[in-house]
Amino acid sequence: MDPRIREDFPILKREVNGYPLIYFDNAATTQKPRQVIEAVRDFYMTLNANVHRGIHYLSREASELYEKAHETLAKFINAEFEEIMFSSNTTDAINTVAWGWALRNLKEGDKIVTTVMEHHSNMLPWRAVAEIRGAKVAYVDVDEDGIPLMDEMEAKIDGSTKIVAISGMSNVTGAIPDVKDVIRLAHENGAVALVDGAQMVPHMPVDVKKLDVDFLAFSGHKMLGPTGTGVLYCRKELLEEMFPAKPGGGTIRDVTLEGQEWAPSPWKYEGGTPNIAGGIGLAEAANYLMKVGMDEVRRHEKELTARGLKLLSEIGNVILYGPRDVEKRGGILAFNVEGMDPHMVGALLDSKGIAVRTGLHCAHPLHRRLGAPDGTVRASFYLYNTVEEVEKLAEELRSIKSVACC
Ligand code: ALA
Repeated sequence: MDPRIREDFPILKREVNGYPLIYFDNAATTQKPRQVIEAVRDFYMTLNANVHRGIHYLSREASELYEKAHETLAKFINAEFEEIMFSSNTTDAINTVAWGWALRNLKEGDKIVTTVMEHHSNMLPWRAVAEIRGAKVAYVDVDEDGIPLMDEMEAKIDGSTKIVAISGMSNVTGAIPDVKDVIRLAHENGAVALVDGAQMVPHMPVDVKKLDVDFLAFSGHKMLGPTGTGVLYCRKELLEEMFPAKPGGGTIRDVTLEGQEWAPSPWKYEGGTPNIAGGIGLAEAANYLMKVGMDEVRRHEKELTARGLKLLSEIGNVILYGPRDVEKRGGILAFNVEGMDPHMVGALLDSKGIAVRTGLHCAHPLHRRLGAPDGTVRASFYLYNTVEEVEKLAEELRSIKSVACC
């Protein structure tokens, strides 16, 4: 990765607790380059107006930029304009499918298949609609590396399955399941497939046409964009079956007391005044990533992960979770220091300026399954992190190890 990239991220220059900041909490949210910060600031400084409604100049220009932002995100994942709906995050996007599609298409006895690996956001919405409809949720177990078992997947996806929902990359172990194969199994059984792309889309090239996925949900703030931004991709052919989960202002062409004529997609699904500045900032983030190249982002993270896996596995009492093969995982290292509470490890790292996340990372069933019911320490990488920072993490863990041992 070109080291000049770090110059674009003002926050990386700051110190924390007297040490240069090492930001390893990218799976929670990423830092923002000045291009994104400036796009958001410029919007409020020079253009602020509502979209889709105004006859005046500012509203027309804001609408144009906001629409162009959808085009940019479509290009980012090789989708069509009308297939891209802006949301506030991945959770919001998955809920749009749960309440807009699943609630209307599930009936008693139907099945939703998901996995033990999932973030709660790809479990709880399905449980909620299944309960209302009298449908079932089935969970595919994972192997010791946290990868869903494909033979169990094959057995559980059957004729009664209506939805298969799986993450493209675990937010805990970084494990990358074979989602293309899961999507194929779903389609062979007449089900639709949703991929939780929160950790996948920011970190590797994603082409919805090649994946053949029906729904893809991801967050903008995990890919250099502003907080409160996200995307739901919905395959064009399914748009007609989707009811707007948030009907209201902006979602219609006409309303009478007898009924309503919906606006075309994506506006039908973006009820109320959207996060206009956020959407424009998100497009700037996608442009930034496309300029760097998603292949390069993935290559860089594999390099950091390989170094981290090697160094951490050499420290005697560090327990690592997830696959050892960097082809099967993203840039996330979940670990524990034997005999130490993960929060204590996180606090010690923080005292040296290293920001990691500790706890159960909204994936309680996976932690229980991995034998880490008290949680893990998670270091997650992005394009601006360096091999030297990973080496610093290992160095600090070596000294923490000696504290734990004495
Ligand atoms: N889902 C985010 C994470 O894994 C917040 O940290």
